[in-house]
Amino acid sequence: MMAEAQSTTSPWEYSDAPESIQVDIAKKYQLFIGGKFVSPKSRSWFATTNPSTEKKLADIASAGKADVNAAVLAARRALPAWSKLTGCERGKYLYAIARRIQERAREFAILETMDGGKPIKESRDVDIPLAAQHFFYHAGWADKLEYAFSGRTVKPVGVCGQIIPWNFPLLMAAWKLAPALACGNTCVLKPAETTSLTALRLAEVFEEVGLPPGVVNVVTGAGETGAAIVNHPNIQKVAFTGSTEVGKLIMNQTAGSGKSLTLELGGKSANIIFADAAIDQAIEGIVSGIYFNQGHVCCAGSRLFVEEPVLDTVVKKLKHRLKSLRVGDPLDKNTDIGAINSKAQLQTIQKYIDLGEDEGATYHSCQTERLPSKGYWCHPCFFTDVQPSHTIAREEIFGPVLSVMSFRTPEEALMRANNTRYGLAAGVWTEKGAKIFDVAKKLDAGVIWCNTYNKFDASSPFGGVKESGFGREGGIQGLRPYVKLGGTS
Ligand code: NAI
Ligand code: MG
Repeated sequence: MMAEAQSTTSPWEYSDAPESIQVDIAKKYQLFIGGKFVSPKSRSWFATTNPSTEKKLADIASAGKADVNAAVLAARRALPAWSKLTGCERGKYLYAIARRIQERAREFAILETMDGGKPIKESRDVDIPLAAQHFFYHAGWADKLEYAFSGRTVKPVGVCGQIIPWNFPLLMAAWKLAPALACGNTCVLKPAETTSLTALRLAEVFEEVGLPPGVVNVVTGAGETGAAIVNHPNIQKVAFTGSTEVGKLIMNQTAGSGKSLTLELGGKSANIIFADAAIDQAIEGIVSGIYFNQGHVCCAGSRLFVEEPVLDTVVKKLKHRLKSLRVGDPLDKNTDIGAINSKAQLQTIQKYIDLGEDEGATYHSCQTERLPSKGYWCHPCFFTDVQPSHTIAREEIFGPVLSVMSFRTPEEALMRANNTRYGLAAGVWTEKGAKIFDVAKKLDAGVIWCNTYNKFDASSPFGGVKESGFGREGGIQGLRPYVKLGGTS
């Protein structure tokens, strides 16, 4: 029902629609090594909390060097048998994992939302289905690798160390594990410290489908655990998604070690709206580009370039659209913007918002909702009067904060869009097909969306250029980092 706009409530009134299912969460979570849950040799634990309530959910094992050693050893031991299985047999395991994720989808979605703060409608409709899709997709490749790399012999790389972030916890685990397993590698996976629960539940799925012990090991912990994986001599490949800062560190640490490396790092992606674009659709693209997952998205469209004649219209419509975004309980099915993943991340975002105002940009937000008293919250917002030199136009914020700028010609749009150290993604909005091809070709970014934004598919390669990293995940290209190619077969 649509009600009159009021100053304190959203113009669209909804009843509360909280998730009704309770998910079992254990008090303590051990490490998953060699096919079993085991206590950490480190005897050390840390808490994971629900960022929307600040309540502790569980204690998680913090893996030390000896634990990482054990995990790498288990992966090494599992490698010969796993890599010698026929592709068809490996594919069966991947299909079984995908199906089990689907069967337990609701539980995964609720857990993801409780541990990480993202709205349930995103976990339910995006993260979990896409995670299942990645296993399905790669199950299909497992017995067709000789066609993916036609005329070459294909071998696995070996033991892969995979370190993932907190913004898409289960999905990032799937992005890393599915291609590695399809290609016959074994893995040591480290989830991010604020969001370990779905990776640990995925380990339960591995037990359920009878994945041979040691093929995937899940070690939880913070940066030190990640560093122990990266520096372990028996790891042949490192795959990392996270901050550019840690990515550079890992690049230094692996240089000269013979380890192969793929990095998926930060971004400051441009969304370009031409005057001839369908503006209402573009507004939806802008909103999903920057406010999806509270802006905790490496490819977020955080710099908006609008062609001058439509700037005022876009700003007016965006302001109006902001009013209809519901911020609050992530477990409520009507929530659009959930909780910020951690207190530290909220402080980072707030620092950028303050800097934006201090440097002279104009802040716009629609604070129509009363926020819960506990939890980490940030109203979706945008800045106008932004100069390219402003910090908010240059640095990754990783929050629901958009910088709006304008341009006069396609050349100026391109020059300004490419004027960044990053190159992960970009968006182009125009009705003219020729303009799409012309502009998209000249943008320095790994992924370019046209008349849409933040659309993902297992068959489509994802990854960046410049300081956004290198290597691709998804599609036939995403298999390449997980194979060693030999001469003609
Ligand atoms: P981070 O890069 O520290 O964390 C990502 C993963 O790396 C986590 O699993 C973490 O435990 C691990 N890690 C941390 N230090 C490590 C080390 N020395 N060696 C190996 N692994 C290590 O990111 P953080 O601190 O959580 O977020 C900081 C900023 O990074 C965010 O504000 C955002 O701008 C950016 N970020 C980008 C992501 C992306 O998807 N590109 C994801 C997460 C953060
Ligand atoms: Mg948590």
